[in-house]
Amino acid sequence: MALDDPTKGSWNKSNKYGIDLRTGIQPSEIYTSAEVFDDEMEKIFGKCWLLVGHESQIPQKGDFVVSKMGNDSVIVSRHRDDTVHVLLNQCRHRGVKLLRTDYGSKPAFICSYHGWCYGTDGKLLGMPHVSHHRDCFKKSEWGLVAVPKVEIYRGLIFANWDENAEPLADYLAESMWYLDAFFDRSPAGSEFIGLQKWVLKANWKWGAEQHASDFYHAQVSHVSYTDVFFPEASTNRLIQFGPPEYGLQYSSPERGHGGGWLTIPHEILLHRGIKTMTDDVVDYWEETGFPKTAERLGDTRSNKMTVFHMNIFPHMSLNRGQGYLRLWQPISPTETEVWSFVFVDADLPEELKASYLTAKANIFSAAGGLEQDDAENTTACQMGVTGTKASKTKLNIMMGDVKEPPEDFEGPGLISDEYSEVALRGFYHRWASLMDGEG
Ligand code: FES
Ligand code: FE
Repeated sequence: MALDDPTKGSWNKSNKYGIDLRTGIQPSEIYTSAEVFDDEMEKIFGKCWLLVGHESQIPQKGDFVVSKMGNDSVIVSRHRDDTVHVLLNQCRHRGVKLLRTDYGSKPAFICSYHGWCYGTDGKLLGMPHVSHHRDCFKKSEWGLVAVPKVEIYRGLIFANWDENAEPLADYLAESMWYLDAFFDRSPAGSEFIGLQKWVLKANWKWGAEQHASDFYHAQVSHVSYTDVFFPEASTNRLIQFGPPEYGLQYSSPERGHGGGWLTIPHEILLHRGIKTMTDDVVDYWEETGFPKTAERLGDTRSNKMTVFHMNIFPHMSLNRGQGYLRLWQPISPTETEVWSFVFVDADLPEELKASYLTAKANIFSAAGGLEQDDAENTTACQMGVTGTKASKTKLNIMMGDVKEPPEDFEGPGLISDEYSEVALRGFYHRWASLMDGEG
């Protein structure tokens, strides 16, 4: 189906929560309402393909990670036949949360309460005093609840509760071209090398929508970091982060995905100047990483899309220059657990993997230099929409318009300038369609 601009008539929808995509007007209530949150858990997190992990987290048979789908805990396991299973983390006897650790390796999952034992594929294998059960008990009917759809793209494990869901490739659609710039840069593939979790007192959508479409904030919010630590790099704020024509944004309004990037040639100098990456990593990208990526994916997706933020609907956010992947795990309308993974090309030298972890700890972690700015903005957004009057206002997502892509840009999707809210309106187009009960 041909894509169109959601700000024009054909993509505007009346919907139950009253988002007007033609103008770009949005109610504050969607960030505070318990009713909206419950609806989201069912209609968005219960229907969409959700990232639950990466194959590199469970390389061996018996390996598992405990992940989340919406507000449900799930186990992601590699069974002895090498298949990957995603299982509700709940003992079928009396409901105990079966695994209460983050990751590990086990031949089977044994419940700590009465000892029911499940295979790593979720089948119920046995329990103490099995002969005392009555005839109506059929072991084959009491395995762990399995998430019906599991698919893997470039090592990323996605799962979907909707057994009638479209294939993952159709869900990701044109975003696969962009995802490859993160996860298909090397024939060795990619690897997750670290994970940090923290809780934000803010709705899950603030972080997701920012990664879809908001580089606009950087030139204001993030100069506090450079002002403090690198004042010599902050002399001209607008030049430092680039004017709008130095970047592009894409939107996939049918799917809700979006992202944006700078095309400025001095981006690497920016990393050097304010130490968002350690010098050994910057050297590696200049000398090896960009040429290697260009050979595989072409020039555009190597060194012209480096400061690159993106969101795969609903809650999977990426930052390429920083090498992080985020999941904004919803807890309540006003609380979100941030899961921040560090990813690298799998063949990156070991000492550079360590440098990536150091850079993440310094810059984008619970205590990271730039994270403070973003976390403060997000929680301030939440504080701002909290209140009897404050939760009844309308907010503004009117910035930017779709434009013809530059001649030398071959990427798919709707294109606009980097300082734009087209991808944000695309995010809410998908959100509104799902909340209205449409696909
Ligand atoms: Fe798990 Fe009883 S609750 S074995
Ligand atoms: Fe930011």
